[in-house]
Amino acid sequence: MSAGFFVNEALFPHHHSVLPAQRAAAKAQQPCVLWFTGLSAAGKSTIADLVEQGLHRAGRHTYLLDGDKLRTGLNRDLGFSAAARSENIRRVGEVARLMVDAGLIVLVALISPFRAERDKVRALFAAGQFIEIHVDAPLAVAEARDPKGLYRRARRGELRDFTGIDSPYEAPVAPELRLDTAALDPARAAQQVLDWLSGRPLDGAG
Ligand code: ADX
Repeated sequence: MSAGFFVNEALFPHHHSVLPAQRAAAKAQQPCVLWFTGLSAAGKSTIADLVEQGLHRAGRHTYLLDGDKLRTGLNRDLGFSAAARSENIRRVGEVARLMVDAGLIVLVALISPFRAERDKVRALFAAGQFIEIHVDAPLAVAEARDPKGLYRRARRGELRDFTGIDSPYEAPVAPELRLDTAALDPARAAQQVLDWLSGRPLDGAG
């Protein structure tokens, strides 16, 4: 997968008249992306699902982009090499950007192991719109959970490039939120996110 891109000088994007702030105002919310990053089995999907339920109950307009699910469709051509994961993160970041543009509160559950790639996604958003949430479980804890049996297979050498085993995970240096999922159950972790969000204005166009 090429990390490069080309500039097509024959493209002239149309200037659209309905602006992001107007779409956000129509939904009476301030769109943002909640980007859950962490090891496999750290709890990203479970916690993101609970947070989405909470937001939905509060009348927010949301969408959850989940790595495992996207890999059955949009990203089904991608494997787990460093280049493929970088492309995975880039694509999901672009989709999240479109959805934030559409006025949604977007939840992303993606291992997204590379700091530089996550920072590139952050740079797509306005200040305060990209909320990085480190779903933090030590490798030993994630490996002991192993709900899909993938760590076991990776240790046996049946799965290559497995995050935390023979592929790196670069933890966020300064995430907006860190959830210690070795100590917190998913419901309490999700509540921490909802509490954090309630401390910032969610109403009105951002
Ligand atoms: S990412 O690294 O590219 O961000 P993503 O979140 O999309 O990963 O997909 C991770 C999911 O793919 C895991 O939850 C797991 O079920 C599955 N998977 C299969 N092979 C691997 C692997 N080598 N490393 C990590 N996850 C894998």
